[in-house]
Amino acid sequence: MHSAEPRPASFSPRGPLRGTIKVPGDKSISHRSLMLSALAIGESRVTGLLEGEDVLSTAAAMRAMGATIERIGEGEWRIHGVGVGGLLQPQAALDMGNSGTSTRLLMGLVASHAITATFIGDASLSKRPMGRVIDPLSLIGAEFNASPGGRLPLMVRGICPAVPISYRLPVASAQVKSAVLLAGLNTPGITEVIEPVPTRDHSERMLAGFGADLTVETDGDGVRHIRLVGEAELKPQTIEVPGDPSSAAFPVVAALITPGSEVTVTHVGMNPTRTGIFKMLEAMGADLTYSNERIVGGEPVADITARHSNLTGIEVPPDVAPSMIDEFPVFFVAASVAQGRTITSGLDELRVKESDRLALMAAGLTAIGAKVEEREDGLVIDGSGGEPLEGGATVASVLDHRIAMSFAVAGQHCYHAVRVDDVSPIATSFPTFEAMMAGLAGA
Ligand code: S3P
Repeated sequence: MHSAEPRPASFSPRGPLRGTIKVPGDKSISHRSLMLSALAIGESRVTGLLEGEDVLSTAAAMRAMGATIERIGEGEWRIHGVGVGGLLQPQAALDMGNSGTSTRLLMGLVASHAITATFIGDASLSKRPMGRVIDPLSLIGAEFNASPGGRLPLMVRGICPAVPISYRLPVASAQVKSAVLLAGLNTPGITEVIEPVPTRDHSERMLAGFGADLTVETDGDGVRHIRLVGEAELKPQTIEVPGDPSSAAFPVVAALITPGSEVTVTHVGMNPTRTGIFKMLEAMGADLTYSNERIVGGEPVADITARHSNLTGIEVPPDVAPSMIDEFPVFFVAASVAQGRTITSGLDELRVKESDRLALMAAGLTAIGAKVEEREDGLVIDGSGGEPLEGGATVASVLDHRIAMSFAVAGQHCYHAVRVDDVSPIATSFPTFEAMMAGLAGA
């Protein structure tokens, strides 16, 4: 877990950004690779694993429930699993740190095992709603003792055998979908998740890759029906984790808004459920090119080159939101220096991420001179037309890695430095971020 000591940092323009970089492994895929490997009997190998605090929380929790998980090199991990149904009773509370994904997915796993686990987390995670997973997991028979408002700390008493359910997602959330599917692994019969709005499908891809009997059918209304046959036997795998498009978005936007820049990010995951950010930047006129397109471990991957571009404001269709849900903070930075107005809506979910991202981005961008209107479910931003923003203010990151990185990127195109009160949360998803940005600036 990162130190409780806040670490402030200042970000100012350092000239054009140039170079070729590789961002750390995909956070969503890294979590899932550890969880599924820990449930397969035999040895799995993972390369390119994100070694950020969130993923290390997942590793620690899976160890506490019986898996053997060892780091054998940079990003290279070896896992011996316990088998589906074989999770052991953890001896102490599972500390999830800042990680909502670890918490919600592991609640699903615990729910269909005859074990009891207590989940705790940092101040940010302890404010986030867990009712969205408690609801379906209660239907399978698990019991919960949560803090007021369905929050952490909470205790899950799993049940075995659990009852298979058919669950229609009331909110577009890959975490809720995955929690139900992971619970279904150790549940007799067929567990079904009905997904009206598609979200990232890494769980489906990886479950199938580990040998689970999983089918996805899309009906006439575009609604996905995901069915998993329970009491699965997972077979150990070798997994190469692609670079995280959510992390790549930061250097990409930094290059687009900083005159004279050209940055290539190699080995970026291009799963269509994740690439909304690149599509929307292109709709704004971003000069992005893709090369070396290939499939790695069942996921599409490419190298992306971003060159400084004159961006124009757009209206983002709300149905694109799930495919760029984590990228809105840095997208708002791009919109703040574009020509004209950018309108976003349907983003209520941003208020329950690691922070209230609509409120924090509106406040921080306004403080550095952007023209932002905060609405209930989105931001409306009138861009500077390519002019640098004023800067010269301190913004609060409130334990949110993506808020901290977004304002670091904004600092590239301001008259005066942008100070972030605490950049330590960046270590949850992108420990090499500051060094990488300095390298691109030739520092
Ligand atoms: C994630 C799903 C998304 C995303 C999070 C990672 C996942 O959350 O914001 O960073 O790995 O399943 P929601 O499911 O809450 O939208």
